[in-house]
Amino acid sequence: MKDKYYEHIIHGGDYNPDQWIDTKEIWDEDMRLMDLAHVNSATVGIFAWSLLEPEEGVFNFGWLDEIMDKLAAHGKRAILATPSGARPPWLAGKYPEVLRVEETGLRNEYGVRHNHCLTSPVYREKVREINRRLAERYKDHPALFMWHVSNEYGGECHCELCQAAFRAWLRNEYDNDIDQLNFKWWNGFWSHRFNSFEQISSPKFRGENHVPALKLAWRRFVTDSHISFYENEIAPLRELTPETPITTNLMRFYTGIDYQKLAKRLDLVSWDNYPEWSAPDTVGTACETAFAHDIFRSMKNGKPFYMMESTPSVVNSRPVNKLPRSGVQELAAIQAVAHGADSVQYFQWRKSRGGHEKFHGAVVDHYGGEDTRVFRDTARLGVVLEKLDAVVGTRTKAQAAVICDWENSWAIDFYSGYRRDGRNYFKACEAWYRAFWESGVPVDVVPMDAELSEYKLVIAPYLYMLKNGTEKRLKTYVENGGCLVTTPLSGIVDKDDLCFLGGLPAGELKDVFGVWCEETDALYDGERSEALFNGKTYYGSGVCDILHLRGAAAQGELQSGFYAGFPALTVNRFGKGRAYYCAFCPGADFIRDFLAPLLAEYGLQSDIEACLPRGVSASRRGDLIFLMNFTNEEQTAELKKTYTNHLTGETVARAALAPFGYAVLDA
Ligand code: GAL
Repeated sequence: MKDKYYEHIIHGGDYNPDQWIDTKEIWDEDMRLMDLAHVNSATVGIFAWSLLEPEEGVFNFGWLDEIMDKLAAHGKRAILATPSGARPPWLAGKYPEVLRVEETGLRNEYGVRHNHCLTSPVYREKVREINRRLAERYKDHPALFMWHVSNEYGGECHCELCQAAFRAWLRNEYDNDIDQLNFKWWNGFWSHRFNSFEQISSPKFRGENHVPALKLAWRRFVTDSHISFYENEIAPLRELTPETPITTNLMRFYTGIDYQKLAKRLDLVSWDNYPEWSAPDTVGTACETAFAHDIFRSMKNGKPFYMMESTPSVVNSRPVNKLPRSGVQELAAIQAVAHGADSVQYFQWRKSRGGHEKFHGAVVDHYGGEDTRVFRDTARLGVVLEKLDAVVGTRTKAQAAVICDWENSWAIDFYSGYRRDGRNYFKACEAWYRAFWESGVPVDVVPMDAELSEYKLVIAPYLYMLKNGTEKRLKTYVENGGCLVTTPLSGIVDKDDLCFLGGLPAGELKDVFGVWCEETDALYDGERSEALFNGKTYYGSGVCDILHLRGAAAQGELQSGFYAGFPALTVNRFGKGRAYYCAFCPGADFIRDFLAPLLAEYGLQSDIEACLPRGVSASRRGDLIFLMNFTNEEQTAELKKTYTNHLTGETVARAALAPFGYAVLDA
């Protein structure tokens, strides 16, 4: 479908008028308050199934008609949800198959949310039916702007229907050939050779949980189940509202589903952003959040995404739920926009009066008035967002990329070896990303099947698994002039976690990097590897590869351990490009010092001419540059030329940023 953008940044969030059906006077008050808060959108109906269809086949849309009409009358966009994330008790009571079976084999009872079988034909039919009714009813409604399908898809079901679907999926994946599966899963190990697909079931704590290939297959199957569940949900929406974009909200680094695969099916990516801003390392939180934004932006090749949820104040789910200081949420919203979001949305507009989330922050508190800190902050931000129309719809495409791949994260989680702890793949990728973020150099974060040819520099940390031709594509990328950097534990297994034979990194990557990795050592906690690079000593942790030069040149030397004297970093000219192999797991100082000259050489610069103090980041979006101070101290960014402050119109030669303050400059 064609991209369609609203002319303003969407400002709004989850709105649950269905919870206030008995005090409907609040609905008009909500509209008044939304106007005051400069809120232009509301996401409605997310968990409203029991009100929409109180009994099987009995539909009640009257209340939603009223809400949609009110939203339209107040010029607000409705992001209309499908209600599949939680079901009414009658549905589960009459059709128990819709409830999830845990890996223990026990079927859940009715309760909570996200508790549905992904395969159940009954559930799929009921979901399609309610979605069809919603689409029929609101297809021409002036408030309808976007579909929000379900809520935070996730989890898995182990019922017999899902087991049968899994076996069918395996048959398809392995050409209906059990011997092929036995070979690829290396089932000769521990006498696991299957005679037929019927003998296979999902990984379980009390059953099979030591075959990484099975666990990978199951995650792939669960991903495909979610995709087909989604396709089932959207069929009536697409048919009846072909011009209305459809999304579903994703969750940061949730690995239960391959988000990079799911994202291809969405019209736009949206995600729910709940960073812990009250943690002491606010700069670390900011970097991790920027990394997440850039992952979601990159899923659609730089196309704007939506920040579908964030809290306007506090959450209720942490051990200690601290109030964020004023300004922090505003800065977090600006950060999202700077990194490519076309929306700033909250969970939630009005605080529930009862239930599990009654102490979760909302724009409108139980108190009810507009004279609260959170309401004032939200309204102030609303005014700022109205001045940022220029960025709506603008794509951000970087010239450098970090490969961070969902399936690779699974494979890393599943192997047994090297070190058990501290193998957080997303954190490891973020460590390399951070050097770009700190220097304000734009960078994409892409899956391993991304098109790489337009990048000048690609960092591929811990590329443990290679699948679907990645090895060839990396080779072509370097051959054609690209610069590739990798780290220990790269090029080790294929798609099914089968180790490559003949030396690492796999196959032709040995030629690309010009090295052979003979062994990999694991370090105890607190133990450090030591590397001499450009006359300076750097320290590493985690694991350390023992590399032999096979054409590459060493650029640094390991200093300690029995691998002292082996290369710490190698560089190999290959075709028109270059490939670096970093043999140890370095800290931020090495990554920074190693990358700085490469960034300069490839002309990868910040979009702002300024010296950025620690904790201040810069991002360009369209014709605007966002300078953001993620520290609790005042900071000044010295600008190397004068800029116009987009929000005040002033000409500035230095940007003085308040604690957690920001500036928006015309580029
Ligand atoms: C989200 C979820 C919302 C709400 C929120 C609370 O993950 O989508 O429905 O539960 O968390 O933080």
